[in-house]
Amino acid sequence: MDKSQLGVISLKNFDLNSLNNFTCGDKSLDRFIRDEATSFEKNLFSSTWIVIHENYGVIGYFSLCNSSLELQEQERMVLDLDASKNKLRAPSILLTKLAVSKKLHGKNLGSTIIKIVTEMAAKYSALMSARLLIVDAVNDKAGFYEKCNFEYCVNNKKDNKTAKMYLDLLHI
Ligand SMILES: CC(C)(COP(=O)(O)OP(=O)(O)OC[C@H]1O[C@@H](n2cnc3c(N)ncnc32)[C@H](O)[C@@H]1OP(=O)(O)O)[C@@H](O)C(=O)NCCC(=O)NCCS
Repeated sequence: MDKSQLGVISLKNFDLNSLNNFTCGDKSLDRFIRDEATSFEKNLFSSTWIVIHENYGVIGYFSLCNSSLELQEQERMVLDLDASKNKLRAPSILLTKLAVSKKLHGKNLGSTIIKIVTEMAAKYSALMSARLLIVDAVNDKAGFYEKCNFEYCVNNKKDNKTAKMYLDLLHI
């Protein structure tokens, strides 16, 4: 998928009626964009971005908020930080939601959106430091994030349904 065919628009400037029949195949993510995202946006709990393709219209969305991640010794070493320093938290951007139109799954749109998110996160990081992009990946989607170069956190099991994963923004 060519990134130049995609545009990203803030939910603040988007008319939700233009979502038409958008579904990503996950009811909770469909409900979030229709019924909850606007309130999250107004209350500064997360910012949501709609992804539009020049031919297909709305092809997906993602939501971001601030977060942090307590680094384990192995992660401190991988990130070239002081490995002996316990309780070191890395400022992070949390990808709270990611959804691609169900009819377009498997066409590299998800991975292209991750590239867009990564570039946005790296720009934000220049202003307000954030070392990592993190995600709580639903277990059967963790393979997708692996393909997008996310690493598993050492303490990755938040519960038995999700895996915490991170992407280093330092050299983006
Ligand atoms: C998960 C989702 C965003 C992936 O988007 P997509 O456009 O279908 O994925 P892509 O085509 O960009 O896939 C990129 C790579 O990841 C792989 N991949 C995609 N989904 C995968 C999965 N569930 N498990 C393992 N690998 C996966 C693809 O095979 C592809 O590999 P390749 O580069 O070797 O060909 C999309 O399926 C979706 O919106 N699902 C419903 C909502 C959801 O579950 N969101 C994530 C919650 S954590």
